[in-house]
Amino acid sequence: MPPNAMLSVRSYDPTDLDAVIEIFLGAIREVASKDYNSAQINAWAQVDRAAWAKRRLSRPTWVALLGRAPVGFTDLEADGHLDMMFVHPAHQGVGVASLLLETVEAAAKGHGLSRLFTEASITAKPFFEKRGFSIEASQRVSKRGQVLVNFRMEKILA
Ligand SMILES: CC(C)(COP(=O)(O)OP(=O)(O)OC[C@H]1O[C@@H](n2cnc3c(N)ncnc32)[C@H](O)[C@@H]1OP(=O)(O)O)[C@@H](O)C(=O)NCCC(=O)NCCS
Repeated sequence: MPPNAMLSVRSYDPTDLDAVIEIFLGAIREVASKDYNSAQINAWAQVDRAAWAKRRLSRPTWVALLGRAPVGFTDLEADGHLDMMFVHPAHQGVGVASLLLETVEAAAKGHGLSRLFTEASITAKPFFEKRGFSIEASQRVSKRGQVLVNFRMEKILA
């Protein structure tokens, strides 16, 4: 797919909080719901707004914009852990996550990291595989009384 000229990425700002929460909830309820049952989706799609406000500022976080509208976000912890990769359900498959991942990889290299790792949902696994991640293990994670399968994945940075 050709790069979308309207897409850009910038650093997260605290005023983005409600937009990223909406993206997170929408991506789980409308996209990941094809791979997890409704009890699992309900357990996953929970947000403590105050905790999120702190967490988003506790590590570099980036927001993808389509024009001026936030359509996705990601982050990077100091050890190379990519915790979040969520794209608005109305803007799937147009390269938003790819652009966010390029940003993460550039930042990681800039910090001298040689490896990225993540816990990919069943939904996100094909995306990360296409972008050079490999599976280390599948795992079963407990979230609010539900068990969800995800995949520990890593990418060695060239
Ligand atoms: C996974 C997710 C982040 C991908 O975002 P996206 O912006 O649609 O991804 P992109 O458009 O950049 O896709 C990049 C490539 O991955 C492929 N891809 C993405 N999702 C895919 C899927 N579910 N199945 C197969 N291929 C997929 C695309 O076809 C594209 O391939 P191409 O380079 O040949 O064109 C998005 O689907 C999402 O938000 N999912 C729900 C939330 C979730 O599970 N997040 C991850 C939590 S760990």
